[in-house]
Amino acid sequence: MSDDRLIVALDVHSLEEAQSLVKNLGDSVSFYKVGMEVFYSVGGKIVEWLKSQNKRVFLDLKLCDIPNTTAQGLISLVKQFKLDEKDFLNVHANGGFKMMQTAAQKLQDLESKPKLIAVTILTSIDQNEWKELGHASTIKEDVIRLAKLSKTAGLDGVVASPREAEIIRDSCGRDFLIVTPGIRPAGSDVNDQSRIATPAEAIKHGATHLVIGRPIRAAENPRIAAEKILEEMNSND
Ligand code: C5P
Repeated sequence: MSDDRLIVALDVHSLEEAQSLVKNLGDSVSFYKVGMEVFYSVGGKIVEWLKSQNKRVFLDLKLCDIPNTTAQGLISLVKQFKLDEKDFLNVHANGGFKMMQTAAQKLQDLESKPKLIAVTILTSIDQNEWKELGHASTIKEDVIRLAKLSKTAGLDGVVASPREAEIIRDSCGRDFLIVTPGIRPAGSDVNDQSRIATPAEAIKHGATHLVIGRPIRAAENPRIAAEKILEEMNSND
């Protein structure tokens, strides 16, 4: 059976590849992430098709622009794809408080409103790279600051590394969504990720949703890989 806490990243280049993965995963997965790769390759067709299959969609386009442009961009996505409260949309928290607040307020006015979450710091970035970007504080300190800022701006949650989930849960409260990429089952390839954890660790530390791409997509049998991950997620329950 599916578990809405698992979001599979559809990072592929064609509609056919995306559809074949979704069909292969069948009832075991109900929530999919549509990111830049598939969205820029095939356009909105993938979102429309997922909605027609009654799947939940996390439209991971990571908007980051001035407040009005970001808010209007989000409104267009919600209206065009009829996104509702089961779906997720996101912005970059480093677009600033005003940008996040404007986006959250404008979405409130819509009839159906997906959850709006903010990317704190990409899970591929490590402390050295963070320093290279000119930040004197640690990634952890900045993730907490950005998570609190997102919450105050009226967002529903954040995207962060599973390693930061616990501290975000402590500082942002029980109802805040914590969506964690950077998930690697024990023994699997790390790829370009950096701040990683296993599915069970992520759930234990307070993640509400796990975004998983390559460990499922690149597995010899994606359905078996997804079912093993679901089992692992539930081992904490
Ligand atoms: O293949 P893998 O499991 O690493 O995929 C992770 C997915 O999560 C990718 O689609 C990536 O764009 C996304 N993501 C991430 N780190 C963030 C936000 C999103 O890895 N902070």
